[in-house]
Order: sequence, then C-alpha cells, then structure tokens
Amino acid sequence: MAPSFDDGNSLFNFVVRDGNGVKGMVDSGLSTVPQAYMQPPIERIDKDRARKHGQPPIDLSKLGGPEHEEVAKQIVRASESLGFFQVVNHGVPVDLLESLKDTAHDFFSLPAEKKAVYRADVSPTPLVKYGTSFVPQKEKALEWKDYISMQYTNDAEALQNWPEEIRDVSLEYLRTSMSMVRNLLQVLLENLGVKPEDSMIDVLVDKKMVNMNYYPTCPNPDLTVGVGRHSDMGTLTILLQDGIGGLYVKIEEDSEFGKKGEWVEIPPVPGALVINVGDMIQVLSNGKYKSAEHRVRTTSTKSRVSIPIFTMPNATAKIAPLPEVVEKDGNALYKEFILADYMKNFFSNAHDGKKSLDFAKN
Ligand code: OGA
Ligand code: NI
Repeated sequence: MAPSFDDGNSLFNFVVRDGNGVKGMVDSGLSTVPQAYMQPPIERIDKDRARKHGQPPIDLSKLGGPEHEEVAKQIVRASESLGFFQVVNHGVPVDLLESLKDTAHDFFSLPAEKKAVYRADVSPTPLVKYGTSFVPQKEKALEWKDYISMQYTNDAEALQNWPEEIRDVSLEYLRTSMSMVRNLLQVLLENLGVKPEDSMIDVLVDKKMVNMNYYPTCPNPDLTVGVGRHSDMGTLTILLQDGIGGLYVKIEEDSEFGKKGEWVEIPPVPGALVINVGDMIQVLSNGKYKSAEHRVRTTSTKSRVSIPIFTMPNATAKIAPLPEVVEKDGNALYKEFILADYMKNFFSNAHDGKKSLDFAKN
C-alpha cells in the first residue's frame, strides 16, 4: 500500500529505497505535489517567459559534400555559444527513434518489482542502474524523474546484462549513433587547429551509456522540475526527446541565440536528435566550446520520455586543455585531472548548474 506522501521518510522509502519511483507515487493517486518535490521559487520554471530556440536543425548529410564548410561552421558556432543544437540526417533510422520512445514507455509501465531489481545497491550487474532523481540523499528538493542507465562495455556484455525489454533497441541506437558522434568531434577538433586522429576520438568516446528517462505527469508542473539545472559531464550527449517539450537551455553569453542568462526551450522536432556539449569538451577546448546548462520542466497532461547517449573518456584518462589550444591562448583555464576524480565530485553533489566545472578550474 502507498504510504502518506506528506511524511518525508515514508515518501523516501517508498519512492527511492523500495524502487517505486515517481511513477509508483503518481500511479497511487496523487492530487498535489508532496513537499519533498517542491522546488524553491528560484529553481521553478516559468513556462510563459521562455522563448523557443528557433534555429533549424543542422543537416548532417551535407558533411563531406560541397556544403561541408558551411555545415561545419554551424556546428562550431552552436558549440561555441549555446552548447546545444539539433541534427537531422544523422544516420539513426527514424523508425528506430519511434521504437525507442515506445520501448521506454513500455519499460516504465512494468510493475515496480521488475525495475527495482536494478536499484544501485541490489543490481545483478554494475552496468545497469535504475533510480529516481539524481542524488536523492543530497537534494533539498527531489527531481520528478525515474531513469534506467545502461553502461556499454561490449556487445556481448550488453546482450547478457542489459534488461531484455530494452536491450536490443538501445544497442541499435548506440550502434547507429556513433559515426555521427565521431564526425561531430572531428569537426569540433579541426576547428581548434588539432589534427584529430582516430585514436584521439576513440579516447574521447571510450565510455558510452544509454539512459532512458521517464517524467510522469505532475499535478503541478510550476512547483517541480524534471531535472534540475546541470551540464552533462562527458564529451558529447546525444538526446532523443519525444514531442512533449520542456527542455530548456541557459544562454551563457550574449550571442545570436539570445541574451546572457536567458532560458530558451529546445523544441521537439520530429526525426531530429539533440546534441549537447559536455564539460570535457569545454575543458579540452580551454573554454571555447561551452557545456550547456540545461533543465527539464514537467507537465500535467502526459508523461514524457527522453533517451540520451552519454559519451566520455575512460575513468582513468588524464584530461586537460589541448596543448595546441593553450599555446594559442597563452594560458590554461583548467588544470589536468583524472576523469574518475571529476566524476566522483560530479555524482556526489546535487545538480547545481555549471558548478561541476569549478573542480577543474585553474
Ligand atoms: C540528462 C538530461 C534532458 C531531457 O539526462 O542529462 O539533461 O530532455 N535530459 O530529458
Ligand atoms: Ni543533461
């Protein structure tokens, strides 16, 4: 039986510890947002004041063709300012995108016990983790989101360990995305004056993770967030979002995309994928490319799903601004560090915008 959600302890036990998630709480019949999910006013998202990002998606089929330079410029410009852009003709079949969204809905509709076996402390495999919110133990207000995260090591281990309901589409998504990711990195590195070798790109995307995020309907979206303000820690993130909307990005500097500090919505575009720059690219580029601060709103009408692929170097990798860039800039904005140390800091604190990057600052 569902507990009283007015009591913080029993809510935590039901949602987090027992693995019922926000979904279980909503399904038990909820008419108001429990205190534990109420964001302080400064974190709430004012839907009516946010503008939509009007930039058309970048057509990746033109890379390598007569319009290569123009398309490369679009990728570079977006990465230097907003840290977010959308792409079409990305090589991931559009019907696969549809299957991914359907599969995510099906997975989160499974009984709680089917998902809860993958909670971090009991999961049969270190590759798979099911959870809710980001770091529930550390957060002043919880995020209105459940998720499952699947780490990729190789095909055999994925086939053996990823939940069978979502395994095949997720693997296919990863397989069909990676050449796009490599092409984008090639463009970004070349623009920095680096001659990117395949081995360098291999290092940048050595680790890959496919997540499925589920944002249940919320009785009062104005008081909650689906995901709080954060940047992604890795190299590039590929994100498939459904048609509901609610993904917002903060403009870091005045630019063609808007005014500093303004939040713009990345609107759903059928068939497109969203790309965002992670903290590691900001470090490597010595701050030229911006990892984007972003967050997600909830809605009262329909549950939303999104399916990101996170790419990053191996945990043992040494990360520092690229020497070619530092030489040109005259100074390094970031120090050298081991990725594992950066991750430890990132995953042990509640989301707090781009504070994660302070760890690497010189
Ligand atoms: C994330 C994220 C955005 C979304 O998972 O890191 O920012 O639209 N997701 O769900
Ligand atoms: Ni993110």
